[in-house]
Amino acid sequence: MKMHRLGDTGPEVSAIGLGCMGMSGMYGPSDRAESISTIHAALDAGINLLDTGDFYGMGHNEMLIGEALRGRRREDAVISVKFGALRGPDGAWAGYDSRPAAIRNFLAYTLTRLGVDYIDIYRPARLDPNVPIEETVGAMADLVKEGYIRHIGLSEVGAETIRRAAKVAPICDLQIEYSLISRGLEEKILPACRELGIAITAYGVLSRGLISGHWQKGHGKSAGDFRAYSPRFQEGNVERNLELVEALRAVAEAKGVTVAQVAIAWVAAQGADILPLVGARRRDRLAEALGALDVALSVEDLAAIEAAVPRDAAAGGRYAEAMLAHMDSEK
Ligand SMILES: NC(=O)c1ccc[n+]([C@@H]2O[C@H](COP(=O)([O-])OP(=O)(O)OC[C@H]3O[C@@H](n4cnc5c(N)ncnc54)[C@H](OP(=O)(O)O)[C@@H]3O)[C@@H](O)[C@H]2O)c1
Repeated sequence: MKMHRLGDTGPEVSAIGLGCMGMSGMYGPSDRAESISTIHAALDAGINLLDTGDFYGMGHNEMLIGEALRGRRREDAVISVKFGALRGPDGAWAGYDSRPAAIRNFLAYTLTRLGVDYIDIYRPARLDPNVPIEETVGAMADLVKEGYIRHIGLSEVGAETIRRAAKVAPICDLQIEYSLISRGLEEKILPACRELGIAITAYGVLSRGLISGHWQKGHGKSAGDFRAYSPRFQEGNVERNLELVEALRAVAEAKGVTVAQVAIAWVAAQGADILPLVGARRRDRLAEALGALDVALSVEDLAAIEAAVPRDAAAGGRYAEAMLAHMDSEK
């Protein structure tokens, strides 16, 4: 496994990371034993970056990762945790809280659920509109000094917030959606991160399965599946988006690889400072994603991919309008 430093100040991480969210409900039911086997297979393949959020399954995801890590050396995993998203007992989303006192409280629970005494990368899931980013990052910098977290990351924030945050403490990475069909960061956010030595941890590289080559119209309708109400998966949009996937499939087949592998390799090819997080929750999907590490894309390949899936060609937003309206990265 190729390793590199995450940003100028971050930890050594594998060329690909495992996002564990889908193992705790966001994409409908998942299999607990298979989820743990997938985390083990990832670690055994040399993936050290495991991404989670304390709100993924309201702690379920952290407990699952904690169980998977039991008996392993702590330093073999780089655990990235998001905090701050609030949920109700019915799972409903209820805003954000990134006040310093709340962060300390969230972290105490997170350490306990994971069964560890420090977190490698800690980050607010979204900008809390009621708390200046300086206060949030300042509180995390105190936690770094106390040894409870090693590095500070951000998630889905815009260039101005990134610059303000970086004045308070070193930021190792920005987690943000990036794929062939979600390229909004390229204009302002990516240049700001590059100027500041902040890496990109790209999520949704398969657009939550839509551009994986395995998606079919009618999938993802079960209760609690984000894709049941995500615009790109809706009737009227999904047909157009699957046409793009078929165009991408032609490029993939010509190279003798799969659609998912081309989509992941495309993100990785956008820069050494961009690390794709894949949301595999089964070992077969993980194996496919790992295969992307062997896909070298030439200038001609990249041009063919761009011709198959032109920038902004997707139908529908990456989140519902109401959610996008509150995202700092979309301002
Ligand atoms: N910072 C943020 O705001 C934010 C938001 C979302 C996610 N994330 C993080 O990023 C991680 C990845 O995001 P994501 O799950 O949306 O991304 P993704 O990798 O685009 O989508 C994952 C889904 O794609 C499908 N898939 C099909 N073939 C696959 C393959 N070969 N490898 C992997 N998945 C394949 C799987 O669905 P099926 O299992 O249904 O086939 C899987 O659940 C999450 O787990 C989470 O840790 C962060």
